[in-house]
Amino acid sequence: MAVSEPIMLSLERFGEICADPAPLIYRRLFAQHPEFEDLFAMDTDGGVRGSMLTTCFDCIIGLTEGSRLPRFELQSARLSHQGYGVPESQLDDMFTAIRDTCREALTGEWTPAMETAWAEMLAEIARMGFTPA
Ligand code: HEM
Repeated sequence: MAVSEPIMLSLERFGEICADPAPLIYRRLFAQHPEFEDLFAMDTDGGVRGSMLTTCFDCIIGLTEGSRLPRFELQSARLSHQGYGVPESQLDDMFTAIRDTCREALTGEWTPAMETAWAEMLAEIARMGFTPA
C-alpha cells in the first residue's frame, strides 16, 4: 500500500488552493492526449467529467486507506473504457494528470515525501490491471 499521509496532505492543500481542479486536470490530460477530448463531446455541462474525476479521487483515497474497492473500480473502468475507445494502457494517464496538476498547484509546498508516495501509488495502480488480488 502506498504511504497515505503525504498523498492526503497534498490533496488537502490542492483543495485549499484550487476550488475546482477539474478544468486544470482535464486541460492537462487533453494537452497530452488531444484525441481524448473528442470523447467527451456529449458532456456539454462537464457532468460526466466531474463524476469521472470524483471516482478517480475516490480510488486514490481508497488506496491510501488500504481499501480493496479501488481495485474493483479500476477493473470495471478498464472494461467499460474499452467501449469508449480508451486503451487500457492509457487509463492510468488520468491519475498521472491528477498528480501532475496537484504538484504544479502546490509548487514550493510539494515535498519529496509527496513525490515518493505518489510515485508508489501510480506504480501500484499500474500493477493492478486485471490481475486478481
Ligand atoms: C485517460 C484516461 C481516461 C479517459 C480518456 C476516460 C474517458 C471517459 C469517457 C469518454 C467517459 C464518458 C463515456 C460516455 O458516457 O460516453 C468516461 C466516463 C467515466 N469514466 Fe473515464 N476515462 C479515463 C479514465 C478513467 C479512470 C481512471 C476512471 C476510474 C477509475 C474512470 C471512471 C469513469 C467513470 C466512473 C465514468 C462514468 C461517469 C458518469 O457518467 O457518471 N475513467 N470516461
